[in-house]
Amino acid sequence: MKATAKAHTNIALIKYWGKRNEELILPTNSSLSITLDLFYTETTVEFDERLTTDIFYLNGEEKGTDETAKVSRFLNHVRKLTGDTRFAIVSSQNHVPTAAGFASSASGYAALAAASSKALGLELDGKELSKLARRGSGSACRSIYGGFVEWKKGVKEDGSDSYAVPILDQKAWNLSILSVMIESKQKKILSREGMKRTVQTSPFYDGWLKATEQELQIAKKAIEKRDFEMLGETLEKNAFKMHATTLGADPPFFYWQPATLEIIDCVQHLRSQGLFAYVTIDAGPNVKVICQPDDERKVFQTLNEIDSVKEIFVCHPGPGISYL
Ligand code: PMV
Repeated sequence: MKATAKAHTNIALIKYWGKRNEELILPTNSSLSITLDLFYTETTVEFDERLTTDIFYLNGEEKGTDETAKVSRFLNHVRKLTGDTRFAIVSSQNHVPTAAGFASSASGYAALAAASSKALGLELDGKELSKLARRGSGSACRSIYGGFVEWKKGVKEDGSDSYAVPILDQKAWNLSILSVMIESKQKKILSREGMKRTVQTSPFYDGWLKATEQELQIAKKAIEKRDFEMLGETLEKNAFKMHATTLGADPPFFYWQPATLEIIDCVQHLRSQGLFAYVTIDAGPNVKVICQPDDERKVFQTLNEIDSVKEIFVCHPGPGISYL
């Protein structure tokens, strides 16, 4: 009744931004991501009839009631699927710089979904596992697969058609994703809260929905053709549009810091010199710069000269779920 799984985090090229159902975590738009090789979570789950509560260890440290309650809520979904009522010990090792704006929730819930379902003897296929991971955090449903992945938003109210599908294997197209860390403070507005406020109050949200549907199709075409410029232009525009919706929210908010703009400026300058690199930004100030492997070194060196850049992690497409 024990299993260990490993899941990698992912970065969205076409963003998931907004829910149509908060409880089931159903998105208003489909999204597209690359699973990353460098950042991952390893989780062991053991169900035991002697336990009187769930216990959660993160990086060797026992967590308090709030964090354990989130894990318990997730385990309840798995317990419901099997009818098993036992509590579990969950032990996670996060190989993701948590507070730095990297989505550790994606690898965290994907690993938890895989390990907990396996520990209870469920043999879930990718689709079912993706739906289960989605209940923890939306972006986690994409971390079930490696390489390029699409999360199909689905239209059904029960969420049965909202899950991720692999669209291109990890090894089929190598790209460089430079995760540029500018500050490590905890983010102020979590994505959950940020997207909710935007959906409810931003007049720009309708524009986002219209544009993102088209951009998803263009991005998929670019991946199919391995057209890097087409993909890069599309992902950068998509990220900017997502962030534009937050400025229209009430009260308005934004995730960028002065250093965020410095990096955008630097990447645009590289492009004016004929080097094709593009930016994307999630619900935080850090920037991910995407380029082709031949340009990786030059992009790294240029970004590394900016004073406000603390650290740069160089990632490539990574694998999907594995069991240890
Ligand atoms: O899955 P969550 O709740 O961490 O939301 C992720 C939201 C973004 O990172 C901003 C976009 C995305 O598609 O990953």
